[in-house]
Amino acid sequence: MSTTLKAVRADITTLALDAIVNAANSSLLGGGGVDGAIHRAAGPELLLECRRLGGCEVGEAKLTKGYRLPAKYVIHTVGPVWHGGGRGEAELLASCYRRSLELAAAEGIQSLAFPGISTGVYGYPVEQAAGIAVATVRATLGELTGIREVLFCCFSDSDLAIYQRLIGDAGH
Ligand code: APR
Repeated sequence: MSTTLKAVRADITTLALDAIVNAANSSLLGGGGVDGAIHRAAGPELLLECRRLGGCEVGEAKLTKGYRLPAKYVIHTVGPVWHGGGRGEAELLASCYRRSLELAAAEGIQSLAFPGISTGVYGYPVEQAAGIAVATVRATLGELTGIREVLFCCFSDSDLAIYQRLIGDAGH
């Protein structure tokens, strides 16, 4: 079974999928950007569950319920802060996508959406980040079963165009 890859422009908190991925920080106690939006939409129980997780390493991923979100689960991952590319940022960003998919497959999650991890506050150049995202998702899906659909949820038309070019019409 091949997995459908799609790029959409949307507010990730509105997506009724099995899971949405949060671009969190290592405390997992909320923040701005997509992290803030997810916590606002999920409600206070999300923070209560996150408090019990004891934080998250950069490049790692942890799962919580989605609470008031239309998505059943939230996969929290912590992207690298961009320091120019010489501090292993590419490998750490790839790990965010890989570990999130591995966690999703282990939980029987069949559909999930990623935001542009690290491309906001953390300053990762979008073109480079998108290339890593699509390549890592494609490679990891080849090792997993059960994931039916992966959405790259873009928050701007320019980001959407980048992902659409990378995914191509094949959509796989
Ligand atoms: N839906 C989808 N994408 C969104 C949304 C949303 N509601 N809000 C923001 N984005 C996009 C941003 O435009 C950017 O492309 O998510 C991408 C990631 O940006 P950030 O949220 O700033 O995440 P990141 O760059 O990984 O920085 C993480 O920011 O919010 C804090 O607590 C978070 O400290 C952590 C840091």
